[in-house]
Amino acid sequence: MFHGFWKKGAPFIGVSPMDGVTDAVFRGVIAQTAPASVSFTEFVNVEGLARGATSMLRAFLYDPAERPLVAQIYGIEEESFYKVAIMLCSLQVDGIDINMGCPAKKVAARGAGAGLIRNPEHAKRIVKMVQKGIVDWNNGITFEEADIRPKVVNALEKMPNYSLTRKMIPVSIKSRIGYDSIVAEEWVDHLLEVEPAAITLHGRTLKQMYTGAADWDVLGKVSQKLKNTETLFLGNGDITSLDMAHEYIKKYELDGVLIGRALIGNPWFFSGHIPTPEERKKKSIEHSLYYEKIFPEAPFFPMRRHLACYMKEFSGAKESRTRLMQANSSDDVITILS
Ligand SMILES: Cc1cc2nc3c(=O)[nH]c(=O)nc-3n(C[C@H](O)[C@H](O)[C@H](O)COP(=O)(O)O)c2cc1C
Repeated sequence: MFHGFWKKGAPFIGVSPMDGVTDAVFRGVIAQTAPASVSFTEFVNVEGLARGATSMLRAFLYDPAERPLVAQIYGIEEESFYKVAIMLCSLQVDGIDINMGCPAKKVAARGAGAGLIRNPEHAKRIVKMVQKGIVDWNNGITFEEADIRPKVVNALEKMPNYSLTRKMIPVSIKSRIGYDSIVAEEWVDHLLEVEPAAITLHGRTLKQMYTGAADWDVLGKVSQKLKNTETLFLGNGDITSLDMAHEYIKKYELDGVLIGRALIGNPWFFSGHIPTPEERKKKSIEHSLYYEKIFPEAPFFPMRRHLACYMKEFSGAKESRTRLMQANSSDDVITILS
């Protein structure tokens, strides 16, 4: 098993992958505000990328200040996982995470994401293909030998962190505690057979989506099971503060936790700082300006979700929130907030 940065010791309190949220801009804002101990990208579909949808590479833009940076991927075709593992090695990410937890119908119904919980043999073959891609990269395989399309190679070469430096990186898995019922312990037994460096479980089944509460007792049981293995175990679900993260790490004897929704509108999370209304407004503007700098061609509306979440816990927040839902540029944000 190759561990890379996934080492036991100081617990990880990290940025959980969130599609449409944890892009290079938001991860950058967090890193500049109060760095996390690990950050995950949004998930990217391996079949799309392997077939040449190079616009998807945007999810793998990052600034070295965000390290350790883990690229998350999902899909169903083993061959595409293999190719994308090689591509990610050339982008010098610190780890590759395989999504086995997405509940979205268009993902899980195809057997990808949380759908893999129902097909452990296929899940294990996918992990092995990603591990093989990394080993082959380390041993000097060329893009041509790996049958990666020239169009994709051209796009990779234009990415800021692209390099032909060869090194091993670890493979991790993020999943849920079950599909329609809790099967966390059996599921983890399967995953351990392919020796991932780390496993993160969100304490809900696919069926629960985001309803009810994350089942931390189940996560605690999994943690005990993984204690005598070399695989790190991270819990995930419903953590709302840094104090709560530390408390759960201790109580459930975890190697770490990932934080999702509590980060939106709160890049101060990892410092434990409670922002003032002025700091919230200032960060909204900085975030908007940074978004336009990193993605100059992109529409502005994806920023609105972040802006809405910054506007809370002060009088007049609701009105600002409503007005910011119309913002189309950082200039609009500045005008509205001044
Ligand atoms: C908008 C949104 C997008 C998400 N996208 C992903 C994703 O791309 N990959 C993934 O593994 N989990 C994804 N998740 C799940 C989160 O990483 C996390 O497991 C879940 O939100 C529970 O953690 P929390 O209670 O701290 O938010 C997403 C969640 C949200 C709310």
